Amino acid sequence: MSGHATPEPMTARRSGPLKGRAEVPGDKSISHRALIFGAMAVGETKITGLLEGQDVLDTAKAMRAFGAEVTQHGPGSWTVHGVGVGGFSEPADVIDCGNSGTGVRLIMGTMATTPITATFTGDASLRKRPMGRVTDPLSLFGARAYGRQGGRLPMTIVGAADPVPVRYALPVASAQVKSAVLLAGLNAPGETVVIEKEPTRDHSERMLLGFGAKLSVEKTAEGHVITLTGRPELKPQTVAVPRDPSSAAFPVCAALIVEGSDILVPGVSQNLTRNGLYLTLVEMGADIEFQNPREEGGEPVADLRVRASNLKGVEVPPERAPSMIDEYPILSVVAAFAEGRTVMRGVKELRVKESDRIDAMARGLEACGVRIEEDEDTLIVHGLGAGGVPGGAVAKTHLDHRIAMSFLVCGMASKSAVGVDDASPILTSFPIFEGLMKDLGADLSRG
Ligand code: S3P
Repeated sequence: MSGHATPEPMTARRSGPLKGRAEVPGDKSISHRALIFGAMAVGETKITGLLEGQDVLDTAKAMRAFGAEVTQHGPGSWTVHGVGVGGFSEPADVIDCGNSGTGVRLIMGTMATTPITATFTGDASLRKRPMGRVTDPLSLFGARAYGRQGGRLPMTIVGAADPVPVRYALPVASAQVKSAVLLAGLNAPGETVVIEKEPTRDHSERMLLGFGAKLSVEKTAEGHVITLTGRPELKPQTVAVPRDPSSAAFPVCAALIVEGSDILVPGVSQNLTRNGLYLTLVEMGADIEFQNPREEGGEPVADLRVRASNLKGVEVPPERAPSMIDEYPILSVVAAFAEGRTVMRGVKELRVKESDRIDAMARGLEACGVRIEEDEDTLIVHGLGAGGVPGGAVAKTHLDHRIAMSFLVCGMASKSAVGVDDASPILTSFPIFEGLMKDLGADLSRG
């Protein structure tokens, strides 16, 4: 579970130039999937570079509860003895996914076409988030869901005894929903088809192919048509988890706005379904060199050399949102240090993340002296230029790791200190954030 019983306030003060090398942990999306696909394979999957954040640890625990053998051998080094597609056994207790929407939604999909019953819950943030987007398509396979009003957790899923394959056009651009449907489709006979209008992160598709599933992706006028053949025997794999571009965003953005900074962030994914922030930063005038492009763990990566930059506001194209959906909070901080307005439209999905991220960023930035405009689907930040943000506020993090890290980065470049009321959620995705940022020279302190 994330979010300690007692909140852990943290404060960031205007910092000297950030210097050095920032090795960020493994990718959260790929880490969840490595454990889940490993549990669906027959035999032993070996994982290196697994993110040991609380979200992923909760998924590891859940995989054990469904019968897989999950073992840690050393830092980031894990094995999963899978039970095979359709081999999940019924868990003896409630599955607690902590803070993780990805964990709960992907696991619901995985068990929904097996004749077992499981009850899911999570922390106060996860219990507010909508699950109907996943249980709607799962019901088409024959699964039943009984949750709280508005499709909220705790929720019990009764898996389909006799699942049928499904053809489903995603009503929201969501890799979690896409992946839940594909995972359910694994144990349905015949072909399950998912159609996505806008491409979202494609780790499930890449990894399913890696584990030996039969899957094809066709680009049509309707969008991407993903076809999965059910009931494959998944073969155990060796998965080297690449570093997380969403975590890399924090040191990268901090270096851009803290005067005199010059850092290297190695192995940042250039996967086109994840790199929207980096395209946007370059358009804003960021001094980022993409060095040594190569493949790591099946993903295109590069080493990023980042120097402090004078930035200008931009309009972020709405169709870019899925490729940077987790990066809008930190982009809105960078935007506050740019000259002119940064306009982010088509971002209403931010309202159903770990917190309402439009509201959390708007209120916190306003408290730091930044002018904001917002509506249901839009966030506009009026930049104050390099070094121009007054700061001097304590932001509420609402059990949201990315809000906490964004405001701490804000404090590193603001005139006065910026605090967060609770930094403990950072442990869900970036457990080494505090040490890594301090090693670069950030002035962070507890309290
Ligand atoms: C994720 C998908 C995204 C993202 C989340 C991770 C995934 O969520 O925000 O952090 O691993 O599939 P949505 O599917 O809700 O867009």
